[in-house]
Amino acid sequence: MRYFIANWKANKNINEALLWIDVFLKQQRSSWSNSVRIVICPPYPLLYPLSEKIKKMKNIYLGVQNLSIFDNGSFTGEVTAKMVEGLVQYSIIGHSERRKYFSETEDQIEKKIIQAKKHHIEPILCVRDENDKIFPQAKIVAYEPIYAIGTGLNEPPEKVLVKKQRLNLQSNTIFLYGGSVNETNIEKYLATDQINGFLVGNASLDPLKFAKIINSNQILENKRKENKNRGSSKNY
Ligand code: PGA
Repeated sequence: MRYFIANWKANKNINEALLWIDVFLKQQRSSWSNSVRIVICPPYPLLYPLSEKIKKMKNIYLGVQNLSIFDNGSFTGEVTAKMVEGLVQYSIIGHSERRKYFSETEDQIEKKIIQAKKHHIEPILCVRDENDKIFPQAKIVAYEPIYAIGTGLNEPPEKVLVKKQRLNLQSNTIFLYGGSVNETNIEKYLATDQINGFLVGNASLDPLKFAKIINSNQILENKRKENKNRGSSKNY
């Protein structure tokens, strides 16, 4: 099982989002359902219209890009986990852009993880390196080196795996990589089973590119199955 998470950041209006999903769904292969988990993380106002479009799709989920540290109350402008419970299954938490532009602290990140869990939302904890705290409640951790985000300078898979060691994750943690993953470099990452999925920013804004990334995974899986079948038929 591999995760493909689209982080749209502060991009797209309603018309663009609806066009995106229509094009994306046309690219879908029936086989996607078994091997991948697709999570679309749009801006909040686009969640509901997108949820209507993907209702019947088993393998496509929704996520938010951030959550409030508060449960509810007089906190003008906040979007809480309670509000999106049932609408989304995942939440990105602690993205480096939030740490940088909104001065998010480890203390706030922990509170957000707690809020997510309380409202049955799976947190996807983003860390920049081994100096960021890994909260044990986070079962999904995305390693996203700052220099690689939105720059085209993706970190090579060998280096990502070295970093994974340094992060010292629990053995059952789902490990994701993010940072300039696109339809041309994805294959290199797919070659290792040590990376369980990807957080995709820029390349996820184009439904064709995002679908191509997912299809690369499918092509590889099909090849592996073929090889396995060939191998087992030799035994007769
Ligand atoms: P990028 O963004 O794919 O544009 O580098 C990844 C992210 O910030 O999650």
